[in-house]
Amino acid sequence: MRIAVVKERAADETRVAATPDTVKKIVAAGHAVVIESGAGDRSSFPDAAFKEAGAEIVPTAQAALKDADLLMKVRAPEADELAALRKGAGVAALMNPYGAKEAVEGYAKQGVAALAMEFVPRITRAQSMDALSSQSNLAGYRAVIEAAALYGRGFPMMMTAAGTVAAAKCFVMGAGVAGLQAIATARRLGAVVTATDVRPAAKEQVASLGAKFIAVEDEEFKQAETAAGYAKAMSAEYQAKQAALVAEHIAKQDIVITTALIPGRPAPVLVTEAMVASMKPGSVIIDIAVAQGGNCPLSKPDVVVDTANGVKIAGFTNLPARLPSDSSALYAKNLLALLPLLTDKDSKAFAPAWDDEIIKGAMLTKDGAVIHPTFAPQAAA
Ligand code: NAI
Repeated sequence: MRIAVVKERAADETRVAATPDTVKKIVAAGHAVVIESGAGDRSSFPDAAFKEAGAEIVPTAQAALKDADLLMKVRAPEADELAALRKGAGVAALMNPYGAKEAVEGYAKQGVAALAMEFVPRITRAQSMDALSSQSNLAGYRAVIEAAALYGRGFPMMMTAAGTVAAAKCFVMGAGVAGLQAIATARRLGAVVTATDVRPAAKEQVASLGAKFIAVEDEEFKQAETAAGYAKAMSAEYQAKQAALVAEHIAKQDIVITTALIPGRPAPVLVTEAMVASMKPGSVIIDIAVAQGGNCPLSKPDVVVDTANGVKIAGFTNLPARLPSDSSALYAKNLLALLPLLTDKDSKAFAPAWDDEIIKGAMLTKDGAVIHPTFAPQAAA
């Protein structure tokens, strides 16, 4: 099949959906790759490297999309990109489906097979295709690096002739993929790290990284994980108890990294204005959940907020894009791993394995209809 990779349009999007490494492997698997010139520039993958790997470089997105069987993207396709695809072609991207229900209907109208990388089920066989994990992991790392850059003190304890620098106290809220990497990164930098989560399974994972677990461990907490391994929305009573415990803890912290998300819902508020007011001047909060509404009501997308009491609150909506070479490399590998499920073994044509549970879980549209159960409940029933 003919696979197109285009330059991302969003101003904040520095990533690209293929790297010279994945292009080489896709070409070796018997496909053609057509790349819009400059697609990899912002992630340090120049045209020449793609060309050497076996891709054809074309001057425009339209030229890349003409006769393409599959479009690989980081962000959801725009109207003109969709319009340039033939009926029945595929497009795989981070579709942000919960935030874009109308767009999902648009993919159906256009007659493309749209695959949301976020919906790849988190089963063992699909681990190498799990873009949420590959990107969240790097986001967790980068959040700590951003915090360290905004913090006017050091992270590790340093004993010098001129005196001792105290270790930073870092509190990570939400110990999923991003949170666990934030814990590991803050520990590597020498901070004293504590963490919280509502899922009981997180307790052991936090401890195994050498951080202390802080949580209200009542009956509700013991039931707080869905079969898919995600957090449930917690009751008002639980949230009140959690807030009281966190309020006391947070006042003593230098760095707070918040990562708490509930799929398909606004992010829970974990750091209230009163908690921010209780923090010491110079403290830093990084709100990774800011794009989903934020874990702190004071955080603003892509702005560093300076509060009256001297706390800095930074919410980055696209942390993976702040280390685009690595984020692209891992994301491109996720797409590469998925490719066999979109390919006919013999003819190498675009032919999604419609009955495979990974494709069933991630494909939004087929033959002009929305097929994903989240968006087409009646059809699924
Ligand atoms: P996520 O990005 O949806 O949420 C981040 C974290 O916030 C989660 O740990 C969640 O429990 C936590 N959270 C939600 N509400 C909270 C609250 N009120 N207070 C504190 N914390 C709160 O989750 P992510 O990172 O995508 O991972 C979710 C789970 O899936 C984890 O258990 C992870 O280990 C598991 N997973 C399994 C994989 C597999 O088996 N292939 C792959 C990736 C993740």
